[in-house]
Amino acid sequence: MESGLNGEHVLITGASGGIGQATAKLFDKEGCSLSLHYNKNQEQISQFSKELNGDYCLLQADLSSEEQTKELIQDSTNTFGRIDHLVVNHGIWPEQYIPAHEMTLDQWDQTLTINLRAAFICSRQFLLNLLAFPKETASIVYIGSTAGIFGEAGHVDYSVSKSGLQGLMLSLKNEIIRIASRGRVNIVAPGWTITPMAEKSLEDHEAVRKALQTMPLRKIARPIDIARTVVFLSSDKLAGHISGQIITVAGGMEGRKLFEPDEIDINSIL
Ligand SMILES: NC(=O)c1ccc[n+]([C@@H]2O[C@H](COP(=O)([O-])OP(=O)(O)OC[C@H]3O[C@@H](n4cnc5c(N)ncnc54)[C@H](OP(=O)(O)O)[C@@H]3O)[C@@H](O)[C@H]2O)c1
Repeated sequence: MESGLNGEHVLITGASGGIGQATAKLFDKEGCSLSLHYNKNQEQISQFSKELNGDYCLLQADLSSEEQTKELIQDSTNTFGRIDHLVVNHGIWPEQYIPAHEMTLDQWDQTLTINLRAAFICSRQFLLNLLAFPKETASIVYIGSTAGIFGEAGHVDYSVSKSGLQGLMLSLKNEIIRIASRGRVNIVAPGWTITPMAEKSLEDHEAVRKALQTMPLRKIARPIDIARTVVFLSSDKLAGHISGQIITVAGGMEGRKLFEPDEIDINSIL
């Protein structure tokens, strides 16, 4: 199926990471011009970008800063013109299991700042860009998480940052059409995906087994699984009537397994 994305300009945040790279490669195959954002990992993104065939530029920014985000959008526009599609993919997942009653406010603030506040900043800078370059179509895709849908014990900061994206999406889908009349906003919500972010957790096979018990497909996603869904949702031709939706890419996950069978005392319940 033709995506119709050929010649369009896509800005991907966190393109130096696992899902970002896979997404960049797929948009590259569709013939898009790419603004690829990274924060600290210049080495990684420089290496990976050599595999791309089309036009791209590499742009550094700490997205918790609105000034740096503004510059990012400006540099991106100076290079390839109007940004047609924004993929808000960057994010952090503090690895350690920390229950809410022990979590420092510094951790809470940092996760919310990078994952949610920066998503808001990127989005409004993108909308300002659309205002400056009128055209009917445009799209935003946020990378959410199953943690934002089912919650995640020990990671309430991350879970809230990802469920917060839903409010952003639902509000902006109704705002973007005042600027670009066929503009659309959606979320792709991955479950565990093999990238540097999840690498360490995936070494814990018991935890993986536990997660797979609520997933009929019993697999861990590859970045390409997420990337395909992002490209689909960005395409006006393929997904032109889809806005305000969360597409979960997690093998049919139904939730979190909370207890082992021996943790439930059946006699005291019945
Ligand atoms: N992997 C999973 O299992 C999984 C599951 C559900 C959702 N997700 C979501 O998928 C998205 C991509 O994750 P991934 O697995 O590809 O992770 P990753 O490989 O760790 O990549 C994370 C990206 O975020 C960027 N980043 C981190 N802090 C930043 C900051 N302050 N400002 C700007 N950029 C920053 C990193 O940039 P540098 O490396 O250049 O510093 C990197 O490009 C994230 O939003 C994540 O929450 C992942």
